[in-house]
Amino acid sequence: MNSLDDWLRAAKRDRVAGATQRSAVPLSAELRAAAVDLASNDYLGLAVDPRLKAAAVAAIEEYGCSARASPVVVGTLPVHRALEAGLCILTGRQSALVFSSGYLANLGALTALSGPGSLVLSDAHVHASLIDAARLSRARVQVFRHSDLAELENRLRQRSEVRAVVVVESVYSVLGDAAPLAELSQLCQAYDATLLVDEAHGLGVTGLGRGSVAAAGLAAARHVVSTVTLSKSLGAQGGAVLASAQIRDHLLNQARSFIFDTALAPAAAAAAAEACRIILAEPERVQQLFQVASALAAAAGVPQSAGAVQSLPVASAEQAQILAERLRAAAVLVGCFRPPSVPDGISRLRFTARATVQPEAAAAAAAMAARWARQEGAA
Ligand SMILES: Cc1ncc(COP(=O)(O)O)c(C=O)c1O
Repeated sequence: MNSLDDWLRAAKRDRVAGATQRSAVPLSAELRAAAVDLASNDYLGLAVDPRLKAAAVAAIEEYGCSARASPVVVGTLPVHRALEAGLCILTGRQSALVFSSGYLANLGALTALSGPGSLVLSDAHVHASLIDAARLSRARVQVFRHSDLAELENRLRQRSEVRAVVVVESVYSVLGDAAPLAELSQLCQAYDATLLVDEAHGLGVTGLGRGSVAAAGLAAARHVVSTVTLSKSLGAQGGAVLASAQIRDHLLNQARSFIFDTALAPAAAAAAAEACRIILAEPERVQQLFQVASALAAAAGVPQSAGAVQSLPVASAEQAQILAERLRAAAVLVGCFRPPSVPDGISRLRFTARATVQPEAAAAAAAMAARWARQEGAA
């Protein structure tokens, strides 16, 4: 026994007691084939689209399995440039810089745009990657109440720092609510601040797939920086920052998670580029997603959110875990969200609307979950 063992044991005991112990059980081929998947983030069903697969295979044939170096050494390939162009066409933004994940895009964007002597104002519900980015930034960090514009304005007005970055998500990942982007942008402009918008759950979903920044008419706004993941509605892997050409150049030179990281694998870049094209060409996919979203929300008895995620609050982390496991045994996959992944501490079953799930199947699964939750006294 040593202090590390003692500490690891105690940490695990606490997690088990609080029903927050996690596992990563591989999904069997049978379950993958048969399940109603309301848990994955492949919102538009593009991860298994033959066109994305073909694009990925062609990129492997041409470039191999790895980009083999940092983008600033020899890792930047034509396929990365094609992806950046595709992201700009889809979102209407001026420039894009591809990272190897959405997490790293957030780390790179926020650390490179803030830093010592600046202020980071972060919404209370932002994703772990943005919380970590704020911690790494060495800026002064303040957290404001979720979507509370009055509190944000006070903090912007009272700041002593010249530069400030306001950090939000366009569609929040757990509650599925939308940020008031137009008002946030106005405030940031009035108080000379940068608005960093994580579009992980907006891109491919809101604005007929173009994302919430475009839908709010902010695609050309120089003070608005968006980050995206390529691993949700784009069905691939990776991340990007979308902004002005000037900001792209700054990030290429200053973002440590860009410079000191191997460039995105060519297969993922090619698949994501193909997804950008398909999202624009086939807007009916987004419409199907919203049909499933409304079927899910109605069947679960919850108000429909702004995006794909519909959440059913349950009584405790333990109940969430029990219900998610029962649903999995019935071939229904749902997200089980417990502390620390829930910003308000309320555990939830998270249903993800996906364009390729039949609305009837989604509704039947959500109704079953809600019924079980009521029976368990969990709702
Ligand atoms: C809001 C948000 N930002 C960033 C990420 C990270 O993206 P990635 O999985 O590409 O690292 C996620 C999800 O995983 C997310 O939900």
